[in-house]
Amino acid sequence: AAASPFTTPLTVPAPLRPWRLAGHDFYRLTTEEADVGLLPGTTTRIRSFNGRMSPVIRAERGRPVIIEQVNRLDVPFSMHLHGGHTPQTSDGHPMHQVEPGGSRLFRYPNEQRAATLWLHDHSHENHAENIYRGLAATYILTDDVEERLPLPKGRYDVPLQLRDAKFHDNGRLDWDLHGFDDRHTVLVNGRPRPYFEVAARKYRLRLVNTANERPFVLRLGDGEEFTHIGTDGGLLPEPVPTRVLQLWPGERQEIVVDFSRYGVGRRLVLDNTYLFDGETPGIMRFDVVREARDPSRVPDRLRPVPDLGTSAVEREFTMSFDPGTGRHLINGRPFDMHRVDIRPRLGVPETWKIVNGDGQYGIPHSMHPHLDAFKILDRNGKPPAAGEAGLKDTVTVPAGEYARIQVRFTEHTGLYMYHCHMLSHVQMGMMGQMEVSR
Ligand code: C2O
Ligand code: CU
Repeated sequence: AAASPFTTPLTVPAPLRPWRLAGHDFYRLTTEEADVGLLPGTTTRIRSFNGRMSPVIRAERGRPVIIEQVNRLDVPFSMHLHGGHTPQTSDGHPMHQVEPGGSRLFRYPNEQRAATLWLHDHSHENHAENIYRGLAATYILTDDVEERLPLPKGRYDVPLQLRDAKFHDNGRLDWDLHGFDDRHTVLVNGRPRPYFEVAARKYRLRLVNTANERPFVLRLGDGEEFTHIGTDGGLLPEPVPTRVLQLWPGERQEIVVDFSRYGVGRRLVLDNTYLFDGETPGIMRFDVVREARDPSRVPDRLRPVPDLGTSAVEREFTMSFDPGTGRHLINGRPFDMHRVDIRPRLGVPETWKIVNGDGQYGIPHSMHPHLDAFKILDRNGKPPAAGEAGLKDTVTVPAGEYARIQVRFTEHTGLYMYHCHMLSHVQMGMMGQMEVSR
């Protein structure tokens, strides 16, 4: 069922419609199986929110979102807002799973700065498969500071969920926890290598990597320049002109592409240059089809990154694969939900050194602490590139390298997780638990 590339139009999902209640937005999200058309000529059974692939929620800062999650799957589900400053009871802890037939209320205060977040499953044994089968929603949080900037808005502000998949000829999804390098079909908002008809003007693209384990190293056309404006925790301090952009699992990158440089009739392919055996680079194509007025602009200053203070605590986390047991470990131990691994204090800045101990196996790992975003201090002792100067919540460390980050937990106390965002690694143990207290 592998469609030839650039024959399917991109779908840009309209945001889900909430009930606008006094002071908050209410949604009912049912997790259920659904048959949807992903590849031409077939349907695919997915695990969905409300029957949809790649849905979008738009939220405003200061206006909480309350979601009633109803689980009609035959597996447990635990909803997590990736990048959210979320009270513990709504954070999708494996101890708070919603069993089949059950339901639960989740509350997202939205008291953090504007950013592109995403909702995904975090259940104890099934999250890698659940996310692979479709349980990933983009969650766009806006605020006044960002709304006042002259960046592209409305239909020119486009969320793009990027992921891979392996299909059988009948359109069925093939699932194997460890089979990450033969998922050769790249889906963008659920469409295989789509084309997208754009106007000759600027677009803001919000890229979200919802793949289990696939990195994207993105390049536009034959190396066209575009502008990197944001990352996991929202806008960068200043725009960064670039020609290559990495997007690792769990991460978000925001870019502005100015299609007026090319003119009507031009087609530009977005390539992934990080390829597994037997893959081709093109993942989607932008077709410039019409002229348009463009009042938008990328200002020279976007949004300063807050000062987190001076770290009072230093920790080291070594991420490594154990070939003896096939497990993935943090500091030599697999996840145990009955064990607290670290105890950060609310408001006290910490420096974490993330060491990838798998130089000999060539396995990349990442670190994603729940609850608060962090800053990257250095990589292998060198200051981060300009595109990594924003707030992050997921950092990938290549095999044998290290990175240091600074994090400060705020607002909420309780039990939270931190883990690698390569999902088979998490399932094989690469997760720890922290208790944040006053
Ligand atoms: Cu997207 Cu616990 O992670
Ligand atoms: Cu890992």
